[in-house]
Amino acid sequence: MQLPYVIITMSTASLIISGICSVRLTSYSLQNSFSIIYEELNFTEAEKTCKALGYDGLAIPSSPEEFAYVLEATAYARQRIGEWLALRYYPEVDSILWDDGTAPAPDMPWFVRQSYRDPRYPCGRIYVAGVLGMIKCSALRYAVCGNHVKPYVEAHGETHTSFAPDILTPSLSEFKVESYLECSIHCGRIHLCRFAHFHHVTKICKILGPELQSSLAEDPESTTFVRRSYL
Ligand SMILES: *[C@@H]1O[C@H](CO)[C@@H](O)[C@H](O)[C@H]1NC(C)=O
Repeated sequence: MQLPYVIITMSTASLIISGICSVRLTSYSLQNSFSIIYEELNFTEAEKTCKALGYDGLAIPSSPEEFAYVLEATAYARQRIGEWLALRYYPEVDSILWDDGTAPAPDMPWFVRQSYRDPRYPCGRIYVAGVLGMIKCSALRYAVCGNHVKPYVEAHGETHTSFAPDILTPSLSEFKVESYLECSIHCGRIHLCRFAHFHHVTKICKILGPELQSSLAEDPESTTFVRRSYL
């Protein structure tokens, strides 16, 4: 079997996989995608400030990799105070959503897991302890700004050759691909992806989410990507 050629530049990675398929990834550099505002502002003022700086708004660190990056980038600021994120409570649907309309993944770390859906606390921030929490929008916090269109996140995790998750349904999505590499790349496109399973015979790639409490079982016809979850 031929190894894929991998050409990586600063912000763009092109993968040409044994002439079978060609995937061009416009990867997005985490450093250039988030910015911290070291100024105590309420939620609306923080959002306005982010937009004035050219960002889409407050940050949406919804994938494990983005969240890990934001945790690290805010470590110093969080010794003092938390930072606003683009997270709001919508009483009409009793849901907390990111500003891109997606729901936070169920395995994200929260400060108060049971009682965060409260109309009195409709604005979200990263708390000093490095977990999510909701508070009043008039509170004064630092902020993390970000762009909301995220073409591709490089998923971090491990490849397990000859292993398959023992539970494979329901999957978030499944489709035919040519290679394991292509399957694992798709994991980075879906912030809920926790496993990407490739079957070498059927060539089916299954993306599995955090709700599936799967463990791995030996299967010579499978390769599985296990994404690192939130810290
Ligand atoms: C945020 O601060 C601005 C300026 O002080 C004020 O006009 C606005 O009402 C405040 N918003 C909230 C939600 O507290």
